Amino acid sequence: PRPIVHDCDPGTDDAVALLLALHSPDLDLRAVTTTHGNVSLASTTRNALDLLQFAGRADVPVYAGAAGPLVRAAVYAPEIHGQGGLGGSDLPRSPVPVGALHAALALLALADGVGPDLSVCATGPVTNLALAERLRPGFLRGLREVIVMGGSVDVGAPKLGNVTPYAEFNAFADPHALRVVLESGARPVLFGLNLTRQVRVTRERTATLAAAGTPAARLSADMLNGYLDLIERRDQRVGALHDPCTVAYAVRPDLFRLEDAHLQVVADDTEGSGMTVRADGAANVRLAVEADEDGVWALLGGRLG
Ligand code: BDR
Ligand code: CA
Repeated sequence: PRPIVHDCDPGTDDAVALLLALHSPDLDLRAVTTTHGNVSLASTTRNALDLLQFAGRADVPVYAGAAGPLVRAAVYAPEIHGQGGLGGSDLPRSPVPVGALHAALALLALADGVGPDLSVCATGPVTNLALAERLRPGFLRGLREVIVMGGSVDVGAPKLGNVTPYAEFNAFADPHALRVVLESGARPVLFGLNLTRQVRVTRERTATLAAAGTPAARLSADMLNGYLDLIERRDQRVGALHDPCTVAYAVRPDLFRLEDAHLQVVADDTEGSGMTVRADGAANVRLAVEADEDGVWALLGGRLG
């Protein structure tokens, strides 16, 4: 199985991504590193520990990382994920303590221990990845694959973003960190809103998932229904299965089509802050541009069911 670390800010869809990783025998989840993002670092870390315990995988270590972005003040999204971060789902508390290392140091130690076969899948603001890269330049390039949910490119619709008209949340929450990752030479596989909006979350999909009947399938369906409840209050009828696309890619790359691109991220404090834009230059990302929507849902149902 492929060794991987999940860097995340659970977050309803982060939680589903984590459950998918835990139920994929072709992945060897070595650690979970947590970041500020959808809710505070304290809450994302709590949620990661509790999810692992729920899944019977409290043996996977959790390392807490950045409590805020590199430069800016932290921004959260409780209106999308609920106050606790899991869309209203409440899990029993794990008795397991968080790991002693900061997430950035844990990432470096894991890379040393596992070697060049290690991949990192990041589904929150990429502050921890950027910190590790700054501590050890070349760290990201030395990984087998860096898979990131963030940004939004060429969707062809007037509204590109989900947090501002221009910016996707993870990119907006720490654009300076995303810039470090884009400039690292690692050529991350990037899942922006242009891709994740192709994998829609609907009541029919969550009902099918719940019908799979296992605790993991039912919890995932509950969290995604909680997310749909919250976005419907904001007049959005269709949700997107953002973060699970990254883990689905790690397991089944054939479900996605990638294109080489050169992307830059606007990091200054203008109204375009956090916007990702195509520019001339050598490819610095492999941009996911097309998804097999039924295939991703079938993978999720099959693995969690
Ligand atoms: C991203 O932001 C968060 O709200 C989700 O968990 C996802 O990682 C989508 O923009
Ligand atoms: Ca996330």
